[in-house]
Amino acid sequence: VNGEIERPGGWPVVPTVGWTGSALDGAVRLLDQTLLPEREVQLEIRDLERLAEAIGALRVRGAPAIGIAGAYGVALSAARAARESAGAAAAIRVVEEDASRLASVRPTAVNLAWAVGRVARRVRDALSSGASAADAAVAALDEARAIHAEDLDMSRAMGEAGLALVPDRARIVTHCNTGGLATGGLGTALAVVFAAARAGRRPRVFADETRPLLQGARLTSWELLRAGIEATLLVDGAAAWLMASRGVDVVLVGADRIAANGDTANKIGTYGLAVAAGRHGVPFYVVAPSSTLDPACPSGREIVVEERPADEVRAFRGRAAAPREAAVWNPAFDVTPASLITGWITEAGLVRPPFGTR
Ligand code: MRU
Repeated sequence: VNGEIERPGGWPVVPTVGWTGSALDGAVRLLDQTLLPEREVQLEIRDLERLAEAIGALRVRGAPAIGIAGAYGVALSAARAARESAGAAAAIRVVEEDASRLASVRPTAVNLAWAVGRVARRVRDALSSGASAADAAVAALDEARAIHAEDLDMSRAMGEAGLALVPDRARIVTHCNTGGLATGGLGTALAVVFAAARAGRRPRVFADETRPLLQGARLTSWELLRAGIEATLLVDGAAAWLMASRGVDVVLVGADRIAANGDTANKIGTYGLAVAAGRHGVPFYVVAPSSTLDPACPSGREIVVEERPADEVRAFRGRAAAPREAAVWNPAFDVTPASLITGWITEAGLVRPPFGTR
């Protein structure tokens, strides 16, 4: 990565995820986010179990980014089926089993199941209409690349759609990492910040550090510094006090799944931030592409919240943060009820409550 940042059209794009090599002999490329901010290491992953490990360990993370990585993973699977010269039925079975395996690694972000399902369907359609396994592998990579390209387009559109909410010198609170590292390279909530900066509005970001894995501290600060945007890091507990004591103009967060009624799952701590924003009259917006909407999920009650290992809370990078025997509850996400959300920004524009109407 070499610290260089690409700025196509003035947007700071991060090399989060990609594909290298040909459709039949290629690899998923990932920037290992567990090593940031100290080291920028690109991984080349050629087999599904290593990819599942990378998604589970948050080497790649963020709802759209794990969807894109999973989509490239199904392309790996289709290539393996072609190399092993499986017949059409066997190839479909291999690809569908691999797609379900990948989708099960992280249950909350709907983007993962949506993207792997879309690529697996493309493979099944190709093979069922008589394509060779090699052609189906090419089709799988095409589909994964399309998902990736659409994500970049949606990021730019969300950025532009959110611009009206960000006046000059706006004080913006963010949670977790919602930038290029969480997506195909550009962002959700941070895309709005990047759009504001591009428009000369000099946004000021207050980034929650985001315990326990510090996506805000390690990743959001890293991205904002690289993009030259004014940013101040906060411990999570400081956001409500910032609103009370100094003032905040807007809270912008991303989402991992938005239910049909607008209830929104996002990184643990988002719900508390929404409660604080409501208490202080600060507008609270969710910025997410349509790949994060789950119309089949009626409300937040049906969203499965991933629970992660206790050791993520008891220690950080091998250093104790609590007694080894401390009991821990470690939900990775929470659900903010639609009633606390001022609006949702998608690539199609701003949606205000009640969710589902425009
Ligand atoms: O556990 P993570 O780091 O994958 O969680 C990510 C988030 O909660 C983001 O806020 C979310 O994916 C929306 S931003 C693309």
